[in-house]
Amino acid sequence: MPVWVEGPCAIGKALIKKYSEKMPAEVYYVVTHMGAKHDYMDKIKAMDSLLGRPSSGQVSIRTKENDYIKESISFAETLKD
Ligand SMILES: Cc1cc2nc3c(=O)[nH]c(=O)nc-3n(C[C@H](O)[C@H](O)[C@H](O)COP(=O)(O)O)c2cc1C
Repeated sequence: MPVWVEGPCAIGKALIKKYSEKMPAEVYYVVTHMGAKHDYMDKIKAMDSLLGRPSSGQVSIRTKENDYIKESISFAETLKD
């Protein structure tokens, strides 16, 4: 989900809050952003409290420099058995 105002976008927060029970046991975040900052761990912990459990991992992608579709696919591929 995109970073808005240095935090997760409102719709991402709403989605996790509403569907946390229906989401699979393992949840991974794809964090897209424009700025140079890459560490959103404090925000990810806040998302985890909406999720009600620790997420299993995340990738942070700066969209100015990277194709986030390609990067997300590469990340997903690292999760395959
Ligand atoms: C309202 C709004 C606030 C944003 N705030 C931030 C921000 O605080 N930090 C940041 O790195 N990017 C910020 N962005 C950029 C988005 O994260 C970026 O648009 C998103 O990751 C999708 O990338 P793209 O616009 O290149 O498709 C913001 C975008 C919007 C629309």
